[in-house]
Amino acid sequence: MRLSFIGLEIILNKKNSKKSISFNDINYMNNETLLYIKKLSKKEIDSRTEELIKTCETDVGKIKQILNDKGIVIIKDFVPEVTIDKISQDLKNIREEISSFISTNNTFKDNANFFFQKDNAKFTNYSELANYKKTVANIRGGQDKGMIDIFNVDKCNYSLGNILIPFFNQKIIFDILSEESSNLNPTNLNLYLNNDITKTRGFHVDTYNKKIKIFLYLEDCLNLDDGPYTYVKESHINSRFAKINQCISSNLSNYTETPFVSLENITPVLAKRGTLVISDQSGSHRGFPQALGHKRAVAVMNYIKL
Ligand SMILES: [Fe+2]
Repeated sequence: MRLSFIGLEIILNKKNSKKSISFNDINYMNNETLLYIKKLSKKEIDSRTEELIKTCETDVGKIKQILNDKGIVIIKDFVPEVTIDKISQDLKNIREEISSFISTNNTFKDNANFFFQKDNAKFTNYSELANYKKTVANIRGGQDKGMIDIFNVDKCNYSLGNILIPFFNQKIIFDILSEESSNLNPTNLNLYLNNDITKTRGFHVDTYNKKIKIFLYLEDCLNLDDGPYTYVKESHINSRFAKINQCISSNLSNYTETPFVSLENITPVLAKRGTLVISDQSGSHRGFPQALGHKRAVAVMNYIKL
């Protein structure tokens, strides 16, 4: 199979594909795509996002339809600014506590508020991180080096978690997710902090099966330098792109890389704080690399089927 993509000729041959596709090739494709995205005007990005944006007043059926058709839907003003204001000091304090840990040589540390660790030094998988009795702050290594994942932020002494949880318990979310299961239980409230993350994992899927993730922007993310969540509309559908990507990445240790994407459907989610994003993670997505001096904070609630 011969493909041409942003000037790169790709030849897929079952016999020699093990030799011909490497992570370097994947990175090359992703970097070329980043250059393409950076050239998009704000107006163009806004026009790509427009069809995805709804409000809590929008008919739930319409929101579900967009999620089904596009793989992503955006609900603006989901949490009012006045509420977000209440948690901004907590975010500042949490960042300071984590910076102080990062500056030490310790690979992990326990204090009254958090269990801190660098690159999964103590807890190595999601289940361990999500089920620990305390809030765990993990500073990632690997492809997303430096990103900070905070698990069960409601278990620490800051009020941020308890302020946000009621929003994730609202009926509209359960109505939107009703196809997933009639009984969903919000389980882990996690916080993802990105500060000066200039290198991020390229386009990928979390799984090739439908998997909904709901996250909330806690800080404005209004330009590419802020590192917006970036999604490829309609890539969750079992399209030719999905098939080609599975073929491309089948020889890699990580078979969920999806560097081959529809350029015109790439949509960086530039949005104000308080915006809710509902995304099917079986579609291609990535965090856009930040410029130095920029930060982003996002809350994610995980819902478990009962
Ligand atoms: Fe992902």
